[in-house]
Amino acid sequence: MNKDMLFSSFKLKNFQLQNRIGVAPMTRMSSVKGSIPRQDVFDFLVRRARNGAAVVYTEAIVTDYECAQGYPGQARILKDEQIEAWKPVVESIRNEGSVAIMQIFHCGRMAWPEINPAGSIIAPSPVTPSQNNPMTNEPYPVPEAIGLLEIEHVIEGFIETARGAVAAGFDGIEIHGAHGYLISQFLSSYSNKRTDTYGGTVEKRYRFAHEVIQAVRPIVPDDRLLTFRISNWGVADMEVSLFNSKEEYQEIIRLLSKEPIDAISVSTYMYGDKAFNTDQNMAQITREVTGLPIMICGGIHDRESAEDALKGADIILSAKSLLLNPAWVEDVRTGKSLPLYKSEEANIAYSDTPLP
Ligand SMILES: Cc1cc2nc3c(=O)[nH]c(=O)nc-3n(C[C@H](O)[C@H](O)[C@H](O)COP(=O)(O)O)c2cc1C
Repeated sequence: MNKDMLFSSFKLKNFQLQNRIGVAPMTRMSSVKGSIPRQDVFDFLVRRARNGAAVVYTEAIVTDYECAQGYPGQARILKDEQIEAWKPVVESIRNEGSVAIMQIFHCGRMAWPEINPAGSIIAPSPVTPSQNNPMTNEPYPVPEAIGLLEIEHVIEGFIETARGAVAAGFDGIEIHGAHGYLISQFLSSYSNKRTDTYGGTVEKRYRFAHEVIQAVRPIVPDDRLLTFRISNWGVADMEVSLFNSKEEYQEIIRLLSKEPIDAISVSTYMYGDKAFNTDQNMAQITREVTGLPIMICGGIHDRESAEDALKGADIILSAKSLLLNPAWVEDVRTGKSLPLYKSEEANIAYSDTPLP
C-alpha cells in the first residue's frame, strides 16, 4: 500500500475527497430547544472541516416526533426552522472543501419513557437489550413489536428526514443501520424474533433495511451520496455478536451491495480486532464481498493506525480523536505521537462547555 494513501484524494461517486479522513457521526445531545443543535456544536463541525477532514458526518438525526428518539437533546430536520439552521453549517463545511453528510436514525428499542413522550417504544420483537440504559442505569422497557402499518409509518419518517437534509443542502445522507438501533435490531436474529416476512432468514431480516434504502434513495438526488452504517455490536449489547457468523454478516453485505448506495461505513470498537473467529478484521471481511467504497472506524488515533486501517478500507473515520483534538488531521499529517482516547473521555461531548 502506498504510504501516502491517507492524504491522497479519493473519488466517492462524483465527489473528489481531499484525503481519506472523515469525522464519524457523534451525537452531542445539545438540542434542548426546537430540536436544533447549539451553535457551538455546529461550529465544532465546521472547524473539523477547516482542520482538513474530507468528510464531516453529523450526529444521528431523529426521524420523527414519536418514538425515534434515543437520547435527550437529539436533533430533527423536519421543520423549516430546523432546515434553515443547518443550511449555513452545510455551506461552511463545503466552503472548507469538505463533504457534509447527515446521518438519520430511529432508535427502536433503545428508547425510554422520559425521552419518548408518545409512550410507544417499538422494535422488531418485544425483547430488551442485554445491558441497562447507560443514561439512567435502569433496564430498558420491553418494546412493542412493530406492526406492518407502523413499519410504513416509520419509513415515512426516514423519507421526511431525508427530504429535510436534502433541502438543507447536504451532500449526502447516511442511514444508520448500526449499534443496535432499529435497523440493526431488524438485521440481527438476537433482537429480531419475528416469524413474518420481516424475520427468520437473513434475507427476511434484511427486508426492513432494504425498504428504508429504497424509500430514501429517490429523495436523494443522483449527484448526492447515500451511505449505510453497519456494526456487529450494539451500544447496550456490547458483548453480543449481532451477526451469528462471518457468512451471515457477508450475506448482508452482499445484499447491501445490490442497493443504490454509495458506500458502506463499518463501525468497530477497534478497527484491527479480528472478527467472527477468523484472522481477518471487519474491513477485510467486508471487502471480500463488496466492490462498494468502505469506511472504517474504531480506535484510529494516529498516523500509523490510520494508514494500517486503510489496508482494508478506502476512508477512515474517527470520532473521539476528532472530538477531543481540534488539530487531529494536521497532527496526523505531521506524524505526531497521539493518544488513544478512552470512552469516558468523550463524555465532554454532552456537556455545555463548547469544545475547541
Ligand atoms: C460522543 C459520541 C457520540 C457518538 N454518536 C454517534 C452517532 O450519533 N451515530 C453513530 O453512528 N455513532 C456514534 N458514535 C460512535 C462513533 O461514530 C464511533 O463509531 C466510535 O466512537 C468509535 O470510533 P472512535 O474509536 O474513533 O471514537 C458516537 C461516539 C461518540 C464518542
